[in-house]
Amino acid sequence: MKKAALAALALGFLFIALLCAQNPYGGDEKASRAGAKLYKQECASCHGQNRQGLEKAPPLNVAGVVKASPGALFRILTNGSLKRGMPSFAHLPEARRWQLITYLQSDSLAR
Ligand code: HEC
Repeated sequence: MKKAALAALALGFLFIALLCAQNPYGGDEKASRAGAKLYKQECASCHGQNRQGLEKAPPLNVAGVVKASPGALFRILTNGSLKRGMPSFAHLPEARRWQLITYLQSDSLAR
């Protein structure tokens, strides 16, 4: 019983840590440019060249993404939303996923 409670607590902390994860590249221009390049290769076919969204996928140039917690975006990129057509990008190295997030949340997009 005690063990289970401890395990649940540990899981809870892990979850919160993931949610609150800071982007190690937050605001870094070089990372943002690298992310932009990667976006064109990996994401634009579904989300549009300018993140405006296409029939296949919703726009990403919206406050819900630009101001989302980096950890939440990291989870979406890692797990995808497979049933709804968003693939997992867990095959990209973590640093690449953070670069993408830096790009998605760069100041120039914030409105
Ligand atoms: C095969 C098409 C496809 C590709 C490629 C794709 N996505 Fe998606 N994406 C989707 C779909 C469809 C959704 C909506 C999923 C849902 O509603 O749960 C989505 C949702 C998202 C969301 C959540 C948006 C929100 O408003 O909650 C983010 C962030 C995202 N994608 C980022 C990316 C990034 C970054 C890439 C490139 C690394 C990418 N996607 C590549 C189809 C795609």
